[in-house]
Amino acid sequence: MTAEAAAEVLVERDGPVGVVTLNRPQALNALSVPLMKAVAAAFESFETDDAIRVIVLAGGPRAFAAGADIGEMKDLANSGAAQAALEAHLARWDAVGRCRKPTIAAVSGFALGGGCELAMACDIILASETAVFGQPEILIGVIPGAGGTQRLTKAVGKSLAMDMVLTGRRLTAREALAAGLVARVVAPEVLLDEARKMAREIAKASPLAARAAKAAANAAVDRQLEAGLLKEREAFYRLFDTKDQKEGMRAFVEKRAPKFEGR
Ligand code: CAA
Repeated sequence: MTAEAAAEVLVERDGPVGVVTLNRPQALNALSVPLMKAVAAAFESFETDDAIRVIVLAGGPRAFAAGADIGEMKDLANSGAAQAALEAHLARWDAVGRCRKPTIAAVSGFALGGGCELAMACDIILASETAVFGQPEILIGVIPGAGGTQRLTKAVGKSLAMDMVLTGRRLTAREALAAGLVARVVAPEVLLDEARKMAREIAKASPLAARAAKAAANAAVDRQLEAGLLKEREAFYRLFDTKDQKEGMRAFVEKRAPKFEGR
């Protein structure tokens, strides 16, 4: 882990609870390559650490994470090298999704695009009243690439997921609770305490039983997940061959409205 990445992701051991905190507030925790490398490394290290029973993934008060880093992606073409870079980047979300220990996302503020996908890669989402969930990729000329079309559809059902993915509409914490995307909503000032409390409660269980419970519950929702993720990823890469992707992402960086032409 580089010194820069270490500063952007804080890693802490709190008894049996491993806490990973995204710490790039100036960019609303945009999930850049170095930041996601550090997240994946932290999860992989907690995964093999027998003292850690449960992992909490948190962001800041204003943003859990506002998505993958658009500045990094805006000029990528759909070349072999670019696809390999995107593939390697998206695999860092898989490191979170594949973790066999129970994981809790503590979400305050924006959880958009890759940020929403990162929260959904965890087992339980605990939200503060200020949390906002969305998959706004369509507004910048692409689609979710880190599992959003799959996990959101499984979490909230097809109609609401399509509404969010096709319009970029965001859900408030209360709407997300009603839709089944999040488990509990708490006041912002107690979010991290509540996440640690929940983690300590889970950590009291036999780690073998906790792992088995997680695997069994995932078997109910993860059926065909791999095939769906692959389909989503292929479509995501293909969009990097379009002018609309360049226009959408450049417009975001240039702080103007995009003009899509269907090319
Ligand atoms: N990537 C890079 N930088 C980002 C970012 C992102 N996803 N989200 C926010 N930022 C940066 C902004 O560029 C800005 O930087 P500067 O101060 O240097 O200009 C800073 O964070 C603060 O953001 P805003 O000024 O935009 O703050 P706001 O309060 O006006 O708006 C927001 C907040 C609605 C979250 C807005 O920032 C936004 O729409 N962000 C992008 C959301 C998005 O489209 N996410 C999807 C990304 S693609 C993806 O994630 C693909 C995938 O599936 C893996």
